[in-house]
Amino acid sequence: MNYRLLGKTGIKVSELCLGTMTFGNEADKATSFKIMDRFSDEGGNFLDTADIYNKGKSEEILGEWLKTRDREEFIIATKVRFRTGNGPNGVGLTRKHILHSIEKSLERLGTDYVDLLQVHAWDPLTPLEETMSALDSIVQNGKVRYIGASNFRGWQLALSLGVSRSRGYAEFVSIQPQYSLLCRSTEFELIPLSRHENISVLPWSPLKGGLLSGKYSRDMDSTPEDSRIGRIMKRGGRQLFGNNEEYTWKVINGLKEVAGRIERSPSQVALNWLLNRVGVTSPIIGARNIAQLEDNLGSTGWTLDNEDMDYLGNVSRFFVTYPYDEESDKQQNDGRIP
Ligand SMILES: NC(=O)c1ccc[n+]([C@@H]2O[C@H](COP(=O)([O-])OP(=O)(O)OC[C@H]3O[C@@H](n4cnc5c(N)ncnc54)[C@H](OP(=O)(O)O)[C@@H]3O)[C@@H](O)[C@H]2O)c1
Repeated sequence: MNYRLLGKTGIKVSELCLGTMTFGNEADKATSFKIMDRFSDEGGNFLDTADIYNKGKSEEILGEWLKTRDREEFIIATKVRFRTGNGPNGVGLTRKHILHSIEKSLERLGTDYVDLLQVHAWDPLTPLEETMSALDSIVQNGKVRYIGASNFRGWQLALSLGVSRSRGYAEFVSIQPQYSLLCRSTEFELIPLSRHENISVLPWSPLKGGLLSGKYSRDMDSTPEDSRIGRIMKRGGRQLFGNNEEYTWKVINGLKEVAGRIERSPSQVALNWLLNRVGVTSPIIGARNIAQLEDNLGSTGWTLDNEDMDYLGNVSRFFVTYPYDEESDKQQNDGRIP
């Protein structure tokens, strides 16, 4: 496992981050422990959770497991923003909710600090100055080492950086967006902004919930019922395919083709593609059993060649309009940026 710098900090995180959203749900405690043991034995030091995952069970399981290890060796990331409490104030990015949520997360994680606290999404109601000031105070009092954002639009991230900078507050060092071969709109704003500001990009759902694992074919009767996609499909969730099912299957079939040719699994190819994308620090892998984790760990230690990167880039190319189209790019860069 290689290590990469977390944004402009000196912190080194493993090139794969382990997502824990399945812990306490699809993966029971024993399985979750096995997954974390295997991940850390492989050199993984970066784990992602959230205050809302499985009503706090994910944080609890991670916290219990941390007691079996040297806590200092791990970079623990969690999140705040969504509803964890009753009443009108049990949600959001107010000073009140942030301070409450971090205390509860620390309790569940059994630690006195988290390495990275991420705001889970934008809060349209709370003044940004209040949010950034509250985050700064928990960095200053040592409960949090660094802060990051998730699911922000480009302008929201840019504005947040501006508020922090103008007031001398701690700045976001990372952004956690959805990003995969089936979700490339992240490349519009977030990737260029992150490159410009040296912010780590930590892609969530790098396999689009399992769609890019290769276990699905267009004949959806074959969807395994115990899988996440199977459950969503059973509820009639065709929204998974976006509004362009043709595009989804084109990408999946292109991925399978490359995987077959180079004798890697589709999951490994999809993850390796992300690992090679400019700006990406650590895709956040999700697994509900050891076999899936083993497969996904096999995405490191090798690199797709340029031809396959281009092929996957082309097969997943999507309609881009002004001011993100090639013509606008040319106009802005006019040959001065390599
Ligand atoms: N910030 C956010 O808003 C946000 C949102 C979502 C997730 N996240 C973070 O990102 C992490 C990963 O997200 P994700 O779980 O959606 O990632 P994902 O990799 O897109 O999907 C993971 C799911 O795909 C299936 N899978 C994974 N590897 C497989 C393999 N090798 N072969 C076959 N199936 C495989 C499993 O589901 P089945 O076995 O059920 O098919 C697994 O639970 C989460 O744990 C969480 O930490 C953050």
